Amino acid sequence: MTTSREPLLEVEGLTKHFPAHLSLFGRVLTTVKAVDGVSFAVEAGETLALVGESGCGKSTTGRLILRLLEPTAGRIRFAGQDVRALRPEDMRALRRAIQIIFQDPYASLNPRMTVGDILAEPLQLHGLAKGGARRARVAELLTLVGLRRSMAAAIPTNSQAGNASASALPGRSPSSRGSSSATSPSRRSTSRSRRR
Ligand SMILES: Nc1ncnc2c1ncn2[C@@H]1O[C@H](COP(=O)(O)OP(=O)(O)O)[C@@H](O)[C@H]1O
Ligand SMILES: [Mg+2]
Repeated sequence: MTTSREPLLEVEGLTKHFPAHLSLFGRVLTTVKAVDGVSFAVEAGETLALVGESGCGKSTTGRLILRLLEPTAGRIRFAGQDVRALRPEDMRALRRAIQIIFQDPYASLNPRMTVGDILAEPLQLHGLAKGGARRARVAELLTLVGLRRSMAAAIPTNSQAGNASASALPGRSPSSRGSSSATSPSRRSTSRSRRR
């Protein structure tokens, strides 16, 4: 599937236009060119930072790569696959390998769920582990990011803001493999997550 010379992620001519003003009858009068012909490649093990003023299209680029938004035009290849051609079931597998780490952990942590349940949810959704094996994996993930296992019973709160960022990371990486998309880089990072 992957040839050794091919980048892990390759984006070519990525474009997203949003309708901005509609006429009385719903006709699109003007469009916002949120992303306009963006191309880049990322090799395995490489880190790429998209830097730019607010509103220049960084977050939209990330959402397009994950197909949380459909591109207007462009090509996206990940690990030798044409991401835009993937069927929904293959997209689910891809989302185990690529994910967004939100800068604000509260954007990704449900304050009504325990840390353990938040970490267990993707394991359940992707059918990766059940029962005792799932609980053991949750404990392992907490340990990996330097948290106590007892944190599984805690609700993410303000006093644990730093820890919340850390728990957002394994929560988005149930398979602990692949690449991540961190957004938004324009504000100072509060994440204490460690890269391995
Ligand atoms: N869903 C949307 N509908 C319409 N316009 C949008 C939408 N999402 C983003 N935009 C516009 O696209 C541009 C890029 O936004 P964004 O990708 O969030 O920028 P950044 O992350 O670099 O701050 C902005 O002008 C924003 O207002
Ligand atoms: Mg943004």
